[in-house]
Formats: sequence, structure tokens, C-alpha cells
Amino acid sequence: MCGIIGYIGERQASTILLNGLKRLEYRGYDSSGMATILERKKRLSIRKLPGKIRTLEKLLNKKPLTGTLGIAHTRWATHGEPNKLNAHPHLDCKAEIAIVHNGIIENYAELKDELIKEGHKFRSQTDTEVIVHLIEKYHTNLSLKEATRKALTKLKGSFALGIVSCREPDKLIGVRWGSPLVVGVGKNENLLASDIPALLDVTKEMIFLEDEEIAVLTQNNIDITTFSGIPVKRKPLHITWDVSQAERQGFSHFMLKEIHEQPPVLEGLLRQKIKDGEVIFAELEPKREEILAKKSLCIVACGTAYHAGLVGKYLLEELAGLPVAVDLSSEFRYRNPLVDKDTLVIAISQSGETADTLAAVREAKNKGAFILAICNVLGSSLTRESDVVLYTYAGPEISVASTKAYTAQIMVLCLFALYLGRLRSVLCVEAQQKYLNALKKIPQLAEKILKEKDQIRRIAQRHAHFGSFLYLGRNINYPSALEGALKLKEISYIPAEGYAAGEMKHGPIALIDEYRAVVCIAPQSRIRQKMISNIQEIKARRGKIIIITTEGEEEVRGQAKEIICIPSVEELFSPLLIALPLQLLAYYVAIKRGCNVDQPRNLAKSVTVE
Ligand code: M6R
Repeated sequence: MCGIIGYIGERQASTILLNGLKRLEYRGYDSSGMATILERKKRLSIRKLPGKIRTLEKLLNKKPLTGTLGIAHTRWATHGEPNKLNAHPHLDCKAEIAIVHNGIIENYAELKDELIKEGHKFRSQTDTEVIVHLIEKYHTNLSLKEATRKALTKLKGSFALGIVSCREPDKLIGVRWGSPLVVGVGKNENLLASDIPALLDVTKEMIFLEDEEIAVLTQNNIDITTFSGIPVKRKPLHITWDVSQAERQGFSHFMLKEIHEQPPVLEGLLRQKIKDGEVIFAELEPKREEILAKKSLCIVACGTAYHAGLVGKYLLEELAGLPVAVDLSSEFRYRNPLVDKDTLVIAISQSGETADTLAAVREAKNKGAFILAICNVLGSSLTRESDVVLYTYAGPEISVASTKAYTAQIMVLCLFALYLGRLRSVLCVEAQQKYLNALKKIPQLAEKILKEKDQIRRIAQRHAHFGSFLYLGRNINYPSALEGALKLKEISYIPAEGYAAGEMKHGPIALIDEYRAVVCIAPQSRIRQKMISNIQEIKARRGKIIIITTEGEEEVRGQAKEIICIPSVEELFSPLLIALPLQLLAYYVAIKRGCNVDQPRNLAKSVTVE
């Protein structure tokens, strides 16, 4: 995944592009670049290099770019290593056209062969470069827009593009096919970008392009058509995200800031969805009968969102009394899933742009299923392709490691399970009331955990040297174990496995010795004794135990020296609190090991290609 941005207006493009690019760095950070056009001279100037955006910034300070039209890119390499030649923008042979690309061109090899035979000279190993040469080929006698349209008919894959040509220095072209692209509507200036935060400094009015659309931006106009030339009229949406939400605000990393944002995010969801002692989802009302008629549920998601989905299974089966299947989107899409018109498919995604989840949704829709999305990003592909959307309202999540989006997804699932439970008369008014009262306490309890973060930091520092970690949990905290392990491995690169504690004797117990750190998630629970037995088995094999338990669980506390306590909480909602120490533990271990927490190696924030 990469980030693209483009600007046309009356101000110097490079400053705006650079600021926006910094907000897209979470999408890719192995190289970056920028091209601007000096209208007067009709000349294209370009700066690009490997490394993070700050290296591009230094280069621009030394060798500034001028011009009021430009495009820029932050790359996460797929084709060709991260070096200067492979960095975007890419140029045609005559250096008149520049493009930036997010996505993948599947048939680039054959196109490249043909273009080379026709005399085009390639400079990079990227798939992207074929696009600019194709446009060059047609731009000889067609306008930039028409040449782009013709080039698009040759491409297979998924892409979002930003294109400029010094032969038409009053136009910025954006193309969307399978990768996100947002148009920012300004005053005497217009922009495009891969994601909302990149545009917030300039405007909050945004148009979300759909697949197979081309936007031609001039300083004062936005003209959108489909690939086949049909005009598209779409009003801008007003984005309520604040620009400060996309800043670190004094925290050393976005991840730490986003961990701390969880109490207000959860509080906000509760305030919005609980009215007069009832869960109200106004957005579901028009579809209430349809939802009620469903006989089973199926959840699809990837990564952390999948773990939220696993928690959702326990919640929905317990509170709404419906069978729930949970599938990794990447698995769901390639088997023959048993979903039909009687199935409610819940697709969970922070970004709403994850390629596998979108493919799973399309597969489910083809089979007649009703799609409910749980998503964080307004206007994202998932929200447009689903029948109904429950937003998580977590604000922009910049750090690659998902934290606040995860707990917000679980909170929405808690509320939805209670809503469905009442609708299906599985829960009586009193039971719902009891659960809502418990849920309302969560933000305050989460705040309490954050206040104790220094203790978690010390435990993390004492364990950061371990070569591998095992996370164990049971029941509704089995997904917490999976999520804890994912958080640790993705930001600290320590091999970590999450397991259902009951599975210990079926294999993982063989791993235990004094070199293994084992995080045992053992909160107040009706199966507490089972967890205690597991802990004793690990102790007997000299595993280094860290226990996460609930205040007052003296018997569990007595089992190890390293204890992290969460406040007492209704067991069904405990994953909402357990998530915080797991996130903090991973964060502080990664810091101790000197890792780049917000931008872990090889990873990108949203996975828009398979
Ligand atoms: O945007 P999505 O929620 O669909 O993303 C799904 C996963 O790619 C994401 O949760 C990933 O696993 C995170 N890096 C985990 O922290």
C-alpha cells in the first residue's frame, strides 16, 4: 500500500503536498517523492529518494520545488526494491507526464514488453511505470484525460492514480479503480489523496471517488466521469474529524496516543447509542425487520478486526442467541461459504479498504446475504458496498498497530448484541439494563488502567529480552490472547503466539521452558480454576509468567510475581479492558528494543492489495 496526494490551486503546491504526505506516511514509508509543474515554464520538476518523508523534506529544503500544481507519493514497495529509481512519481520518456500510483498492475510485464518494443525506455522495476508510458503513447494526439482513459482500458489490477502533464499545466487528474481516492474541495484550490487526514489542513469538504471514476481537477472546478465517460454528480461530504486528531499531540508515538484515546472513544459510542436505557441504532431502523428475519450470522475481517469479530461471536451467541461463524476474509473469499439470504454478514474493518474483506463482502452479496459493516472511515469502499453501516467513530487511526479501532469495534459489537438480544426477545429489559450499566462503566475503568501504565512499562522492560512469547486465554479472552500476540509481534518482531489455554496439552506445552515468556489472561471468570491449572503447568516447567487478572482475584495473583490488574468488570465485556494492558505491554517492549513502533517493518496500515 502507498499514499498519494495531489494539489492544484494558487498556493505553492510543495508545502501542502509535504504536509499531506506526512499524514499518509502510515500507508508506506520506504521511499517518497514529489513532482511539481511550473506553469509559466511548462516544466516538470521532480525530487525523490529512498527513506522516510523527513529525508524528502530535507531534500526539498535544500532544493525546493516551485509551482502551484503537483503530486506526491509515499511508497511501500511491491515491485522493485525501495530505491530512488523505483520511488514515485514516475515519468514518461520525455519527462512531460508524471504519475503517482497506489495499488498493483497485474499485467504490467506484458505491457512493458510491448512498450519496450515500441521504443519506450524504462527506468525502474516498478509495475507503475507502464501506466505513464501508456499515457505518453496516447497523449501525442489525445488530451491528458482522453489519453488516460485509453490507457486505463489496457490495465488489469487495482489502482488509484494522480497524474499531471506539463502540456496541460492547469489540470490534475485522479483515477480510482480498487484503491481509495478522495477529492478535497477547497476555495480556489482542489486536492486529491488516498485518505482523509492528508487533506484536513486545507478542507473538510470531500468527495469520495468510486471505482471506475476519473476526476479532472482544475483550480476552480471538479469534473468527475466514469471510465466510459458518463458524467457523475456527487455532493461533497462534510468531514467532522479534527486536524488535531491526526497529530501526535505531545505523545511520543501515535500508538501511545491512540491507546490513550480509548476511554473517550468508548464513552462517545455509549453516549451516542444508549438513549433512555435502550440501545438505539437509528441507522438500522429502516432495515429492522430484515435484520430480525436472519437465521444466522457470519463475521468476516482480517487481522485485529478479525480478533474483534471473534469476541463478537461470544457476545452475539450469548446475548442475541444466534449462531455465529467467524471467517478470515482471505479464507472466506476462496471457499464456497454457506451464506445466503438468511445470513447477516458482518464485515469489520477499520479502514474499510482492506482488499480481502471487500472481496469477501462481494462474494457474500452475490450469494444474497445482507451486509452490515462495522467501519471507522466515512465514505470508504466498505461503507459504500454494504447494506447498513455502524461506524466506530474512533477518529483517524494513524499507527499501523490497531488499538482504539479494536476496542471501538468490540464496543459496537457489544451494543449490537444487546440491541439484537432485545429485538429477538432473548434479553428481558432487566437483563439489558444490567448489561448496559456494566458497559457504561468501561470508559472510566479503562482510564484507571492507563493511569497504571508505568507498572506495565516496568514489566515490559524486564521481559523485552525474551526471544518468544506465548499468550494464553480462555473463552471470550481467547481472542484477547490472539490480539495480544499480534500486537507484540507486529511492532517488536518477537515471535509470539496466541493460544486457547485449553489447548496447552495438545501441543504448545512442549514450548515451555525458562526462556519462554507466557502472558496468562486470567480475569474474574466462571472458569478461573481452569486458568489456574494452566498457570501451574507453566510454572512447573519454569516458564516466565505474566498474569493479567482482575483486582481481588487473590488466588490467581498468588500464582506469579509479575501481575497486571484490571478493575472488576462483567466477564463478557472484559476484552474491552484486557486489550489495554496487552497494547501497552507490546508498546513498551517494542520501545525497549528500539523498534519503530508506528511504522513497523514490512507493514502498512491498510492492505488494499491481496
Ligand atoms: O483496516 P482493517 O481493519 O480492515 O485492517 C485489518 C488488518 O490489516 C489490521 O487490523 C492489521 O492486522 C493491524 N496492523 C493490526 O494491528
